[in-house]
Amino acid sequence: MPNLTHDALRRWARDCLQAVGARPSDACLVAHHLVDANLAGHDSHGLLRVSQYVAAVRSGDVDVASQPRIVQEMPGGVVLDGARGFGQVVAQTAVEEAIRKARATGVAAATVRNCYHTGRIGSYTEHVAAAGMVGIVMVNAGGGGQTVAPFGGLARRLATNPISIAAPSGDEFPLVLDIATSVAPEGKIRALAQQSRATPAGWMMDARGRPTTNTDDFYSPSVGALLPLGGPAGYKGFGLGLMIDVLAGALSGAGCSRKEVVEARDGMLIIAIDIARFGMLAAFQDQVRELIGYVKSSPPAPGFEEILVPGETEHGQRMNRLREGISIDDALWKQLLSLGKELEVAPPELAHETGTGIETHSGNGKPRRTKLVRSFGRADRTWFEGR
Ligand SMILES: NC(=O)c1ccc[n+]([C@@H]2O[C@H](COP(=O)([O-])OP(=O)(O)OC[C@H]3O[C@@H](n4cnc5c(N)ncnc54)[C@H](O)[C@@H]3O)[C@@H](O)[C@H]2O)c1
Repeated sequence: MPNLTHDALRRWARDCLQAVGARPSDACLVAHHLVDANLAGHDSHGLLRVSQYVAAVRSGDVDVASQPRIVQEMPGGVVLDGARGFGQVVAQTAVEEAIRKARATGVAAATVRNCYHTGRIGSYTEHVAAAGMVGIVMVNAGGGGQTVAPFGGLARRLATNPISIAAPSGDEFPLVLDIATSVAPEGKIRALAQQSRATPAGWMMDARGRPTTNTDDFYSPSVGALLPLGGPAGYKGFGLGLMIDVLAGALSGAGCSRKEVVEARDGMLIIAIDIARFGMLAAFQDQVRELIGYVKSSPPAPGFEEILVPGETEHGQRMNRLREGISIDDALWKQLLSLGKELEVAPPELAHETGTGIETHSGNGKPRRTKLVRSFGRADRTWFEGR
């Protein structure tokens, strides 16, 4: 499997998006977001999506010339229309608005409608947590993307409607819960299908409601469905997904699941809670760290080595992939090379192990060291604003 630095992959994704007409600043932001998902270990929401986004620009599903528009504003909230732009660009604007307003009012909400795929939503709540706030983000697909069966049902009725909640801990990483409300998001099925691999048991059923691990049973012509989160208690995941459809879909104006077939256009609700307005940020973080310590002090159950908390695996993956590089599976690598060739974008440079880390070589032969990028929206903002 080829191994690459996050910098090389970002440059490549940015160049592909620019090649189909994305504004440089938007291409940088979207590329940053996708590679950050790979860094966090969520490959299903990373570079795998570049070809999808390129196709969406070409088909007109994404309007590269559009700008997010504030359609309504109040002291503690804002309503944004994404104008069919890249989801990441619109969501980033909404996150910044929610943070700005929460500074003044203590709690603020931003809704978004009419944008393309928003990607890994944990990156948005991480951004809110980096501002010393609690971040809550919910996303639906505006009535499109129906892939999940309701608990007790056979047919697809909901999108994978993810939710993320992040809280700053004052430690190395914030607590970040970031989950689809189906057992697995569609992107994970797609990634396995591309590698001709079966899914783990319990993710899907076929068109007749029988458990299956064959990705062919999910994609047409047979059209099975993803199962709601929770296994035998799937009514909990279903209930959560349904309420997210209401909050991210009805409240934002993006729309909820319905009979009419519509293309997926993400709807979003972002809530920012400024902790300092409710007490001391430091005291809040102390309690979060104590809670983490206490929960982790439980003896591990048989088959487990340790207790992990939400956000910990992503932090571990990020540190590891920043140091060791990002390995791309052979099927995806082939796809990236072919897309790059078609768009006349040079392949991303492979990483070389130097003994003290990894580096790539620029065209003039000078080594290019990778930079440490810790979280979406802070040190690395320069990447998508400056280049
Ligand atoms: N934008 C969209 O439309 C959309 C839709 C669905 C999913 N997604 C994204 O897909 C990604 C993957 O979703 P998923 O449902 O497969 O997530 P997942 O099953 O990988 O779970 C991830 C969450 O569980 C935590 N976690 C993982 N292992 C843990 C352990 N052993 N102990 C405690 N916590 C643990 C992680 O820290 C994280 O918060 C998410 O980033 C989500 O935002 C996006």
